[in-house]
Amino acid sequence: DHTTVGIIGGGPAGLLLARLLHNSGIDCVVLESRDRAYVEQRQRAGILEQSTVDVLRGSGAAERLDREGLVHDGIELRWNRRAQRIDFPALTGGRRVWVYAQTEVVKDLIALQTAGGAPLLFEARVTAVAGADTDRPVVHYTHQGQDKTLSCDYVVGCDGFHGVTRKAIPDGACRTFERVYPYSWFGILADVPPSCDELIYAHSPRGFALHSMRSTTVSRLYLQVANGTDPADWPDERIWDELDARFALDGGWRLERGPITSKAVLPMRSSVTEPMRWGRVFLAGDAAHIVPPTGAKGLNLAVSDVVVLARAFARLQDTGSAELLDAYSDTCLRRVWRAEHFSYFMTTTLHTDPGQSDFETRLQISQLDRIAASPHAAAELAGNYAGLTIE
Ligand code: FAD
Ligand code: DHB
Repeated sequence: DHTTVGIIGGGPAGLLLARLLHNSGIDCVVLESRDRAYVEQRQRAGILEQSTVDVLRGSGAAERLDREGLVHDGIELRWNRRAQRIDFPALTGGRRVWVYAQTEVVKDLIALQTAGGAPLLFEARVTAVAGADTDRPVVHYTHQGQDKTLSCDYVVGCDGFHGVTRKAIPDGACRTFERVYPYSWFGILADVPPSCDELIYAHSPRGFALHSMRSTTVSRLYLQVANGTDPADWPDERIWDELDARFALDGGWRLERGPITSKAVLPMRSSVTEPMRWGRVFLAGDAAHIVPPTGAKGLNLAVSDVVVLARAFARLQDTGSAELLDAYSDTCLRRVWRAEHFSYFMTTTLHTDPGQSDFETRLQISQLDRIAASPHAAAELAGNYAGLTIE
């Protein structure tokens, strides 16, 4: 079989790329190793920035998002038992964010694709990418117990951090920049209405906590924990007590408790691979870069990568010019590094490093005080959080 663009991975990056290419009349095939139910239920991101919503709307994939997504005009920061709201539209000229889970974005994109989009194969596990430096790269995969091949004009690795595409690039052709963090997130889902209207990011002497949500009836909460933490050591009461302690405010505040339906520990890492291309193989989304979750940039970066890439393929098709394709990596990396810096900043400003000195804690507090006191400092946070425009 042959296609113009072979897409490896049916997460948000691969599915949206397929949608955008299909809308431009460009042939593509998506190969996804997992089954449909697994991909649709994998619990991950929850916040869409303004430009992500604009892209989903423009691609015709936002009908349910516009009905069910929750629009948020800010977040709350907590530290030193006080709270400060950051108003996004006021500080950014009208930009805002949406609470709409990655699971729902993925379900919507899959539904569109199976109802007349490009071919999407589940349980199609890619084992190798050959000939990246030739005009006809070939993707090797297994499907329904059989070994198969797909020859392509171009291959795009949207196969996440543990995918195979990046590994197909020879040593020395790309460079990876990386940082790991000495703490993890313990995330829970609870069947209880959120105790807040907007997300709460809390710095505390006991470590970071985040109150997010998935809907008006489901809360999503995270606690900073030590690497290697076992969820089995955290019975429900211990989780709620710890969240209560970290969100505490002078003057009081009440966190509603409810049945916890999911518990998982997530390690935190920053990583960027440069360039995001080798020969006719491109990397997009988590396959090329990951951020620690604080600030919710991962999914949004995957979206901006594939927007840039789809535009470049459309230019090639319409004019024969590879100019935008050749600029793909540099164009994306400018935005990627900004998001890397912001995620690093949010993470290191709000979490307590196990080896942290009191001096460093004072610096964190001073930075948070500055954001509360200065519209310029608050606007810098708001602009990055609500998201930069796509170049
Ligand atoms: P992925 O969603 O990882 O999709 C890659 C796809 O490729 C998967 O479907 C995978 O099954 C498939 N694949 C892998 N290998 C192969 C192969 N060999 N052959 C075929 N298919 C393959 N971001 C936030 O903003 N907020 C969060 O709270 C948050 N939480 C997260 C929690 C976890 C556990 C993880 C891993 C990530 C989280 N992220 C979060 C990041 C965000 O979910 C990712 O940035 C986003 O999923 C990136 O989309 P993607 O399509 O690039 O990669
Ligand atoms: C969520 C995750 C984040 O990393 C974040 O900064 C905000 C919200 C979430 O899963 O809801």
